[in-house]
Amino acid sequence: MDILSRLDEAAACVRQRLGDAWAAAVVLGSGLGGFASRVEDARALDYSEIPHFPVSTVEGHAGKLIGGKVAGKRLLVMAGRFHYYEGNSMEQVTFGIRVLHRLGVKVLLLSNAGGGVNPAFRPGDVMLITDHINLMPNPLVGPNIEELGPRFPNMSDAYSPRLADLARHASALRKVPLTQGCYLGSTGPTFETPHEYNFFRTIGADAVGMSTVPEVIVARHCGMEVLAFSVISNVGGLYSHKEVSHQEVQEVGALAEKRLTELILGVLETM
Ligand code: HPA
Repeated sequence: MDILSRLDEAAACVRQRLGDAWAAAVVLGSGLGGFASRVEDARALDYSEIPHFPVSTVEGHAGKLIGGKVAGKRLLVMAGRFHYYEGNSMEQVTFGIRVLHRLGVKVLLLSNAGGGVNPAFRPGDVMLITDHINLMPNPLVGPNIEELGPRFPNMSDAYSPRLADLARHASALRKVPLTQGCYLGSTGPTFETPHEYNFFRTIGADAVGMSTVPEVIVARHCGMEVLAFSVISNVGGLYSHKEVSHQEVQEVGALAEKRLTELILGVLETM
């Protein structure tokens, strides 16, 4: 079955079970699932119930699509995402994003846990992603499907300046500290060596992580507006030899979850 038919079957299932007319969608990253408890009148679908959806295998990723209301807006929440390092193809990694588009979602909010390479960053900081560097395989490699988007999509404004302003406004209003910078996407699953962190800093990154970039590329390809946050769970570089663990990534995520939740609520309120 071709991808358009698979997307249509998945979207039809979600429409039937969770409804329609969404104001936005949110993708929650590693250890950042707490926002899901803010959804009112929530209805949830396990990813395994949606035709053609991959299943996420990472600890701290729930694997549920939740539909409901937040700040008075109809919102879809993807609690759990698909990573390339799990062995998914890039088409699988980004399948959910295309289903959201098929459902009429025009505004996409994403979050992830990342490693800081900007030496000013501290674990627990929330970084507004203003640009990215893609060092993963590009999800749009292959024949272009015109129904999904153009052959050569522009990436000069991948992250919506309009939505970024709403996030800065929410940060000021709710007194939640917010940094900003460039996110570098690497395949993982290894964390970086000290020299790799240093290299990523040298080429202009502020944080590095194993997700989000393919989703943003596909979302921009189909014309969605994107806002993304990276929660800094650790800081890496030549002079910080501290070991990174997945457990640490999840623990700091729990601390920063509150900040992230406040920021997303603030954005949704003013959207
Ligand atoms: N590198 C890559 N991905 C990550 C990191 C890191 O240091 N921390 C959390 N996700």
